[in-house]
Amino acid sequence: MKLLLKGGRVVDPANGRDGMFDVLIDGGLVAAIEPNLPADDADVREVPRGTVVVPGLIDMHVHLREPGQEHKETIATGTAAAVAGGFTAVACMPNTAPVNDQASVTQFILARAQEAGLARVYPIGAVSKGSMGEQLAEIAEMRTAGCVAITDDGKPVVTALLMRRALEYAGMLGMPVIEHCEDPSLKGDGVAHEGPNASRLGLRGIPGVAEELMVDRDVTLAGMTGGRVHIAHMSWRGSLRAVRAGKDRGVDVTCEVAPHHFVLTDEALAGYDTNVKMNPPLRETADRDAMIEGLADGSVDAIATDHAPHHFDEKHVEFDHAPFGIIGLETAVALTWDRLVHTGRISFKRAIELLSVNPARILRVPGGSLAPGAPADITVLAPDLLVTVDPARLRSKSRNTPFAGWTLRGGVAATIVGGRVLYVNPDVAGASTLAG
Ligand code: DOR
Ligand code: ZN
Repeated sequence: MKLLLKGGRVVDPANGRDGMFDVLIDGGLVAAIEPNLPADDADVREVPRGTVVVPGLIDMHVHLREPGQEHKETIATGTAAAVAGGFTAVACMPNTAPVNDQASVTQFILARAQEAGLARVYPIGAVSKGSMGEQLAEIAEMRTAGCVAITDDGKPVVTALLMRRALEYAGMLGMPVIEHCEDPSLKGDGVAHEGPNASRLGLRGIPGVAEELMVDRDVTLAGMTGGRVHIAHMSWRGSLRAVRAGKDRGVDVTCEVAPHHFVLTDEALAGYDTNVKMNPPLRETADRDAMIEGLADGSVDAIATDHAPHHFDEKHVEFDHAPFGIIGLETAVALTWDRLVHTGRISFKRAIELLSVNPARILRVPGGSLAPGAPADITVLAPDLLVTVDPARLRSKSRNTPFAGWTLRGGVAATIVGGRVLYVNPDVAGASTLAG
């Protein structure tokens, strides 16, 4: 079936497009993208006024929790949250139960994602068996089964030797190693960023240097091995310095920042809300500002949510005892537009690079482009929509967000995956016509 998206502004940085174009979709692919395409036998869908057609957003850091922790999230609920948040694809972290450290788990995840039929799912395999940091996992086998990267996310790869081997091995297979950077001895049993705020509140600290040390180490190892390292959820200004230094000397290093790290600081800890407890922790104003600077100047490659659903009962405990992590899929667009684009910190085009073009490039997956022949994975953004975050309306199975009640400017009108309109936002005037 042919679909013609008619009359919208298209921003497609990979192909240097920003203007009014029609998009013809045929057989799940972009067939043509030109001004004023004839309808012919296509089903015509008017793009609502004020919305913008962009390549489908890709969240390269999501915890879908299945198998094993389905009370927090399932692949079906997580991918429903993804499409509601404007994401046509997500890469999912291996810290499930069992850990995704072998092909059978990867295959299970892909089969569940297929059944759900929503966002595309790219599994990320573990670096080490059980993410225990001892022996390498079945990396080649997982690659063949469909994994696009490896990580022990949730924990760092503690020994330099194992990280070296992972970079060498993943490098041979064309995959990046995604690292959760933290020196465990410095992190200790910390629960919040080490600094005056944590001290005043009586919370044990996690120094920023715990992150920076491992970024430095991994950048050095990537340089040594010629492998590719991607720094997950960067939060500390010293880590950005280490990434920039690596890029300057030609090391294959990329990094991501999560919305909570460019929006919030550790001042949010004052109420002991466990929905501001995440790892790495919220840091200082200087760090938040450094992350924004990196997003703007190109030293940060991607915005990724670290969507980490936890059940209400698990979060509804003392700060010390709560698990780390917050959900992010359904608030990322609103936070990015409200705090970065509308404030003039980054351009609209840069936001699409950070949320689509670069994640596709880093993971070497399709997407990030609306060139003819590309999969018709398309997000229709409503950049001026006022969105009030209402946990009761979220598609995610978990509600652990610190942004409840926030009103932000920037939303999603519709999400199209492989030419199928999978989400339409009833709050956007005229969007229902996109559903057909
Ligand atoms: O806050 C976090 N939550 N950080 C991590 O590294 C892991 C994640 C989780 O799995 O809940
Ligand atoms: Zn994570």
